[in-house]
Amino acid sequence: MNREEGLRDTVSKMKGFSGYCVTAFEARFAAEMAKLIANHGGKPLVAPSMAEAPLAENVRAFEFAERLFRNDIQVVIFLTGVGTRGLFEVLETRYSREQLVEALRGVAVVARGPKPVTALRAFGVPITLAVPEPNTWRELLEAMDATERCSALTGLTVAVQEYGVPNSELLQELRHRGANVLQVPVYRWALPKDTGPLEQAIRKLIAGDCQVALFTNAMQVSHLFQLATQMGVTDQLRDALSLVVVGSVGPLCSQALQDVGVGVDLEPRHPKMGQLVAEAAERAQQLLVEKKSAPADPSSVGTRVSDASPGTIEAGWDKLESSAFMRACRRKPTEYTPIWLMRQAGRYMPEYREIRAKNSFLELCKNSDLAAEVTVTAAHRLGVDAAIIFADILLIVEPMGLGLRFEKGDGPSIEGMIRTHADVKRLREVEPQESLSYVFDAIRKTRAGLRPDIPLIGFAGAPFTLASYIVEGGASKNYRHTKALMYGEPAAWHAMMASIARSLVKYLNGQIAAGAQAVQLFDSWVGCLSPGDYREFVLPYTRQVIAGVKPGVPVINFSTGTSGYLESVSEAGGDVVGVDWRVDLGEAWPRIGFDKGIQGNLDPLILFADPSTIKAAAFRLLQKIAGRPGYIFNLGHGILPETPVDNVLALVDTVHEMSRRLATNDTKGTE
Ligand code: CP3
Repeated sequence: MNREEGLRDTVSKMKGFSGYCVTAFEARFAAEMAKLIANHGGKPLVAPSMAEAPLAENVRAFEFAERLFRNDIQVVIFLTGVGTRGLFEVLETRYSREQLVEALRGVAVVARGPKPVTALRAFGVPITLAVPEPNTWRELLEAMDATERCSALTGLTVAVQEYGVPNSELLQELRHRGANVLQVPVYRWALPKDTGPLEQAIRKLIAGDCQVALFTNAMQVSHLFQLATQMGVTDQLRDALSLVVVGSVGPLCSQALQDVGVGVDLEPRHPKMGQLVAEAAERAQQLLVEKKSAPADPSSVGTRVSDASPGTIEAGWDKLESSAFMRACRRKPTEYTPIWLMRQAGRYMPEYREIRAKNSFLELCKNSDLAAEVTVTAAHRLGVDAAIIFADILLIVEPMGLGLRFEKGDGPSIEGMIRTHADVKRLREVEPQESLSYVFDAIRKTRAGLRPDIPLIGFAGAPFTLASYIVEGGASKNYRHTKALMYGEPAAWHAMMASIARSLVKYLNGQIAAGAQAVQLFDSWVGCLSPGDYREFVLPYTRQVIAGVKPGVPVINFSTGTSGYLESVSEAGGDVVGVDWRVDLGEAWPRIGFDKGIQGNLDPLILFADPSTIKAAAFRLLQKIAGRPGYIFNLGHGILPETPVDNVLALVDTVHEMSRRLATNDTKGTE
């Protein structure tokens, strides 16, 4: 340290924070925050936890307005004040306020409680029904049932303004009343694109390198913990925060902290950023001393949630980990068998076809708002236990340097096929943060819109299936060119597979960082190989991909046509192995090994049969499992486009009901 630095160091030690590292999560006023901390003698570590989502990305909001102008909507429910203002802010980028108010005059406007009422009055929107307090979704519906323009909903379109997580019970009840529900989400804030600084702040807190943490709004708390969940360090972060001085700008922010199990040491007299820093600087040393000497003293400032009785606070990240799907991935017992369906968001679903009618398939994949909407709608509508991000295994071929088209009826086609060693050399390794950022954006938005107890699955094609597409240029019957390369130019083959595997590791980990709780590898076409060829030409690369996935995140290794060598498939890795229907479920599991979970096995064509046949088939599978933890119900391959939706709904209900009953009987039997 030179003299000048030494002097600065001494001066800072004399002032409030006495050289403590003070971390803060303020985004908009990050620079001001850093300055304030430094002025009070602290070492600032300001890691913005939020980025403003561009208003123009709120595609659903614009769709709502267009339909409103067409008189296509009869009832609009405003659920929150912030969301109401957010929605106007978005729409006023395109339409005038007068236009919007005029259109809203023509519909029944329902406001849930005083906050949306205030917001709507400020805009000059006449309110048909103001739901009095307490305004839960039940009271909201009761009040609507008692109001003339809102009671008979059959055939009407009801738009629901949403902010944050959709209220699935309300949506379901509205649908029960015969309404067509239009969800209108408002995206105002997202995690920043570059989460590096925030990750660094989390690591520093955990390492004990920071002494003070300052929060200036509630969203920062949820974003910080969302990222910590993705990093798999929520418990460590919570523990770390219990050892530092936690300052919160005001009551809402404190509530958010307490909800995630973090006690608040200090709230300023006035809820202002400057005041927060000043008071924290004044009291930090004293508070730290108190905390060190009496870390679990319930009478200390604020409420320390760790002192509350266990189970009183169910925070969001626990909900994901304790979900039936995540527990089954980890072979832990569950109350019922979790179910999700490959291709659950697809053409068999009218909601999908409606959106798809206006966008090509690739447009849909690349529009993160629409992709998120399709993903969330499918999972919530079906009542399944996991969502899978709407995307495609072939998206990755574009950043590899190849062309991708989806032709009507013909399936995918790839330009610039790889057939020789020279071709392999031009195959690019993928930097997904740039080229596939739209998938990561969709994952972030999906995570924000999904019910907090529904895990999100990320995915990719497995090396062989991707190789088959990029060598053949599309779908194939005999894999002639793929096998020609494999047998004829094995060195080229191995180089190509290694390159694909490296790209896949980055892509899957990117999806995890963006918010996926588990990932699945689709090896849809690898069953065309002999057992020996699988071991020689494929297994090492699939294994490399799975081994490269972030530790602790469950991997589902799915393939079809591989019942001749399931043991080798299992050897490639994965916490769960996905199987098709060509193998008996009861025989498959011991071959895979009981140290792994198992997924799938129902023939997708069963869904074309009548409900009693579907039920019987599901029951047979559940019986084969005999209550062993680690089974995830699924089809043996994707749902076909012509599948009746009602049969899919019936399957989901049946699996939940029957497995719950079987689980209860099992417990009784062992008591
Ligand atoms: O809901 C979900 O499961 C998530 C979305 C998803 C899609 N494709 C959407 C999609 C997933 C997980 C996939 C994986 C995928 N894509 C696989 C592996 C699974 C499997 O079925 O074996 C494969 C081989 C592909 C490649 C692909 N994409 C083909 C062969 C086709 C055309 C055939 C068809 O079904 O139309 C696609 C297009 C595709 N991918 C659609 C969807 C919803 C249909 C496109 C449309 O709307 O026209």
